Amino acid sequence: MIAVQNIASGVELLKVAELKRTYSLPRTSLWRPAAQRHALRGVSFALQAGRSLGVVGESGSGKSTLARLVMALDTPTAGSVELLGRDLHRLGSQELRAARRHFQMVFQDPYASLDPRMRVERIVAEPLAHLGRQPGSPAGREAVRARVQAALEQVGLRAQDLDKYPHEFSGGQRQRVAIARALITRPRLIVADEPVSALDVSVQAQVLNLMQDLQRELGLSYLFISHDLAVVQHLCDEVIVLHQGCIVERGTPQKLFHAPEHPYTQALVRAVPRLPGHLF
Ligand SMILES: Nc1ncnc2c1ncn2[C@@H]1O[C@H](COP(=O)(O)OP(=O)(O)OP(=O)(O)O)[C@@H](O)[C@H]1O
Ligand SMILES: [Mg+2]
Repeated sequence: MIAVQNIASGVELLKVAELKRTYSLPRTSLWRPAAQRHALRGVSFALQAGRSLGVVGESGSGKSTLARLVMALDTPTAGSVELLGRDLHRLGSQELRAARRHFQMVFQDPYASLDPRMRVERIVAEPLAHLGRQPGSPAGREAVRARVQAALEQVGLRAQDLDKYPHEFSGGQRQRVAIARALITRPRLIVADEPVSALDVSVQAQVLNLMQDLQRELGLSYLFISHDLAVVQHLCDEVIVLHQGCIVERGTPQKLFHAPEHPYTQALVRAVPRLPGHLF
């Protein structure tokens, strides 16, 4: 909460207000109404440009539901997601398509999220193709190729890698390709849903360091989702703790680590391995 006050002078990039998502489960009886699952029960937070917010919580707490709603890949039952002052869920399809250049996503599993039949050039350029023609977007094959090469270099890969297929890369390199794909539209916000949990611990630190460097260089903001408090602590200015679809605690990572108030946060902190040099 302190962090929110400190950054109030910045531009408000993302504002999520009273966000709810209820799923209807398949009916199990003719006589009873379908059961409802309340995946998010009224979540509110704001994120200033250039800052990063961590979202932690155990499996089923609503993290990916939140990510999908912020990315406008799913529709809320109630509440709003404003990006730079515009409610994404009230935009027309053309406006939403154009707005997508400002927010991109990195998924958990770089083996599932990169199409094995496509070359890296096409994978990384894909968000540009979805945007359609817009002022400032590269026109023509050569311009797109140059933009892809620049994005690959930005994430520590080589420009020549654009002719390769995903299977020619390690897990960490694949996640770099996924990050290059997210960067290609020069977004303001990246929603990262467990971006390192499918990777070996030694590789996790490299990818997290890369994300941190990119944030400094490009002034990006992250909504960074993880079940592991240790993973978010170096990257995020503030963290919210989700439990059964509600925010039960929020604060700086230091505060949550050293003085967790909610019993659920205390349990999350206890679950963090205390190995010397863990991750960083
Ligand atoms: N399409 C859906 N239909 C029905 N229930 C769903 C659907 N998607 C998610 N849920 C339920 O909503 C709740 C929150 O799910 P969500 O995937 O957001 O959790 P999560 O925090 O991302 O978990 P994990 O750490 O396992 O990825 C869970 O109880 C889940 O079973
Ligand atoms: Mg999830």
